[in-house]
Amino acid sequence: MLHSPASFLPTEDTAAEAARRALTPLATDMEDSQIRAVASQVWALQAQGAEVCNLTIGDFVPSQFPVPAAFMGRMVLEAQAGQTNYTPSDGLPELKAAIADQYARELGIDYGPGSVVVGAGARPLMWATYMAFLEPGDGFAYGVPSWNTQYYDYLFQCRGLVITGQPASRFLPTVEQVERVLPQARMLVLNSPLNPTGTAYRPEELEPVCRALLAENQRRERDGRKPVMMLYDQVYWTLTGPGFQHAHPLGLVPELAPYVIYLDAISKSLAATGLRVGWAVVPPHLHKAFKSVIGHMGGFAPRPEQRATAWYLSQPDLVAADREVMRGGVRERLGLLVETFEGFRSEGLPVEVIRPEGGIYLSVRFDLHGRRTPTGQRLDNNDDIRRFLLHEVGLAVVPFQAFGLTDDTGWFRISVGAADPIKVAAGLERVRGALRAM
Ligand SMILES: Cc1ncc(COP(=O)(O)O)c(C=O)c1O
Repeated sequence: MLHSPASFLPTEDTAAEAARRALTPLATDMEDSQIRAVASQVWALQAQGAEVCNLTIGDFVPSQFPVPAAFMGRMVLEAQAGQTNYTPSDGLPELKAAIADQYARELGIDYGPGSVVVGAGARPLMWATYMAFLEPGDGFAYGVPSWNTQYYDYLFQCRGLVITGQPASRFLPTVEQVERVLPQARMLVLNSPLNPTGTAYRPEELEPVCRALLAENQRRERDGRKPVMMLYDQVYWTLTGPGFQHAHPLGLVPELAPYVIYLDAISKSLAATGLRVGWAVVPPHLHKAFKSVIGHMGGFAPRPEQRATAWYLSQPDLVAADREVMRGGVRERLGLLVETFEGFRSEGLPVEVIRPEGGIYLSVRFDLHGRRTPTGQRLDNNDDIRRFLLHEVGLAVVPFQAFGLTDDTGWFRISVGAADPIKVAAGLERVRGALRAM
């Protein structure tokens, strides 16, 4: 009798050792995203029927933030019309042209379609950027907290030049911090508006950073050394907060053109994280390398989505109208949270927020270290606070540690992409009750 293949697999006891022997050391030690680990605990609790106000997910639920109807309708039509084959590995010409036009119109970047590389969301382009510029041991400068950068630092075996964000500078890397690491860097990653903090660079903060990078690269050019490249991740640029205008490097220091890679996607701007269209806008002389990486990776965006994005972006009035609706929804939810937390603070409760400037996030500090919960448990670190809020208060938030910050100072990310204002209001009442009782 034949044994089934499953009977030849390692047992539960031997599985870890068998995996270690099969895998490379890099793959063995690769950590999974801590954000996902926190989110899965929440889902498990909800599956048991617990009432949890879930503010952990950097995504949108369609009941709160639907994908714009016109875009969705067009995508379905494209699929039904047989637009279902491969596309060129850097994207459909009509999409590259629509993105180039939007960048020229709204951001003043006038490189033309030869600068655009399309992929299945922002991530493949992020990967392509690191492949294009980083070698093992290279200096890789980035701020923490930030979204997943610490994992790329590990994956590309770089020498992380980690800039620790401070509340005083709204967790954004300052020019002084950047200047300190630039001499050893091969790449600098900036993200604005920033996930997880919901803060964004003002022109007067970003410009000196750009000037420092330019000065460093002018020195390197004279010495015949490789430049520092900048990845500017602006996937949230359309979701600026009230009174904020998106600041970006080439709008401030155009001489940086040969060194900046822009990263963008419809994932956040159209609440379309699962539809997978992203792009990089790169200096045209570097385009060929990006196209090859995306091609070999197979990281293309699906054709119906590309066709629909090209059609959609070519209609500035439609884009502007949908953007206003989405911004309104984000601002309503963030406004409710900010007002409530500021109210708690004026009551003397130990909470602090940084007013949001862009994206779908809010930085909140629960200053509960050393305090005891109503059941007598002492809270010694952010994870204790997170578990207390989740299990005893029914509020799910993500500690900044999940974004690479080691300082255990009570800061958390709140995301409003899945936030139903009625449930948020109820969740905040539970928080007020719990904080008063401590
Ligand atoms: C700052 C930032 N950059 C990039 C990404 C990745 O975007 P995508 O889902 O399009 O790959 C995310 C996703 O959360 C993000 O927050």
